[in-house]
This record gives sequence, C-alpha cells and structure tokens, in this order.
Amino acid sequence: MAKPNKFVLWGSAGHAKVLAEIISLRSGSVLALFDNRQLPSALPGVTVYRGEAGFRSWVETQGDLKGIAGLAAIGGNRGHDRLAIQAFFFGYGLDIPILVHPAAVISSSAYLGAGSQVLAQANVAADARLGKACIINHFASVDHECQIGDGAHIAPGATLCGCVKLADNVFIGAGAIVLPHISIGSNAVIGAGAVVTRNVPAGVTVVGNPAKPLINGK
Ligand SMILES: CC(C)(COP(=O)(O)OP(=O)(O)OC[C@H]1O[C@@H](n2cnc3c(N)ncnc32)[C@H](O)[C@@H]1OP(=O)(O)O)[C@@H](O)C(=O)NCCC(=O)NCCS
Repeated sequence: MAKPNKFVLWGSAGHAKVLAEIISLRSGSVLALFDNRQLPSALPGVTVYRGEAGFRSWVETQGDLKGIAGLAAIGGNRGHDRLAIQAFFFGYGLDIPILVHPAAVISSSAYLGAGSQVLAQANVAADARLGKACIINHFASVDHECQIGDGAHIAPGATLCGCVKLADNVFIGAGAIVLPHISIGSNAVIGAGAVVTRNVPAGVTVVGNPAKPLINGK
C-alpha cells in the first residue's frame, strides 16, 4: 500500500512538531491540527480546530477523506488518549499509519501496530512486537523479542533489554533501564532514570535504582 502523504494530527503542542518533521521528511504535509484545548497552532500556516466540533467542521470542508492519515500527536503518559483518538479518526475513515523517522533503526522482523511512532535514533530490534499507538522516542532502545502492549511510551533514551514485556499504556520515563525478561503491568509508570530489576505490577509507579514503588509521592 502506498504511504499516505496527507496527514491530520490531534494535538497542537511539541509532539506535533516532532511528527510534522518526520512527515515532511517523507514528502508529506499536515493539513490540519485538532486539540481539545484553545491553543495556538504548533505548525506555521496550519489551522488548529478545537475539539470534536472543530473536527466535524473541518470534515465538512473536505470532499473526501480517502487517502488522508490521522495520528495522535500526544506524548507523555497518555496512551489511553492516543488510542481513543486513533479510534475516533478510524471511525471517520482516516488511515492510521505507522510513522518511522528515517534515522530510526527497525529490524525487518519487528512488528509495529497501527499509529505507532518511532522517532529519530530509536532502535527496535529483532522480533520485537509493538501494539497500537506506541511511541518509541528519540534514542530509546527496544531490544530483541520485547513485547509491548497498546499505547506504551518509551521516553527519550530509555532502554528495554531483551524479552521485556510491557502491558497496555505503560510509560517508561526518560533514560530508564528495564533489565531482561522483566514484565511490567498495565498503566504502570517507570520514573526517569530508574533501573527496573523486578517485575512491576499494574498501575504502580516506580523510581530509583533499583526501582521501588513511589507511594503517595514518597
Ligand atoms: C516518576 C514520576 C512520574 C513521578 O511524578 P510525580 O508523581 O508527579 O512525583 P513528584 O514529582 O511529586 O515527586 C515525588 C517524589 O518522588 C521523587 N521523584 C520523582 N521522580 C523521580 C525519579 N524519576 N527518580 C527518583 N525520584 C523521583 C521526587 O524527588 C519526590 O521526592 P520527595 O517527596 O522526597 O521530594 C516523574 O517524576 C517522572 O520521572 N516522570 C518521567 C518524565 C519523563 O521521562 N518524561 C519524558 C517525556 S518525553
């Protein structure tokens, strides 16, 4: 299938700038931005429409949405939101592509789910599997046979060693290291710079080296 070159992005902040740069490197363009907040446009010359009503008003200006791709331009610990936005776009018939920076390295045996985004200098190694709407951020490394659920975000410079398993919506903070064969439950948060040496249950935030649960901010 031909790569789409016309995109719309939901999210008009910094992550939209990062995605727009990748889109322009593949000779594509961003037609419109959407955001639930009243924000200035993250991209010069591109209109930002507010919320679902704004999206519908933009749709009315389009003859046909065929061939237009939609992505969630939302970083941080917001995998649920990325998945909901993708489902919303899909419901309107938009394509949900995979976006990979040309300076990322993806193994030919890796699998990436729809809407996943791999940024510059990131690495996804042999037989790794990513779910939908994942972000592998700048200089992050996902080693061989990792299994990553939907909506995960591996922040800049974080490392997942081989055979790590992440359930849905896990957020791995910048520069964290997850040792081989560790499993991390859904909605868990790994603090920036943590070294994860034990499995992490669902919904738990851990910080430090070795990583320990952060309970009530302590
Ligand atoms: C772990 C994290 C989610 C906790 O956020 P939070 O719940 O708002 O926690 P707070 O900032 O209130 O900090 C609570 C305590 O944990 C400590 N703490 C917070 N993050 C920490 C970290 N990564 N490592 C070690 N200690 C940390 C704070 O110093 C504070 O300690 P204190 O109570 O003794 O002062 C957050 O600090 C973090 O690391 N986020 C990752 C950010 C990131 O990588 N972003 C990348 C975007 S692309």
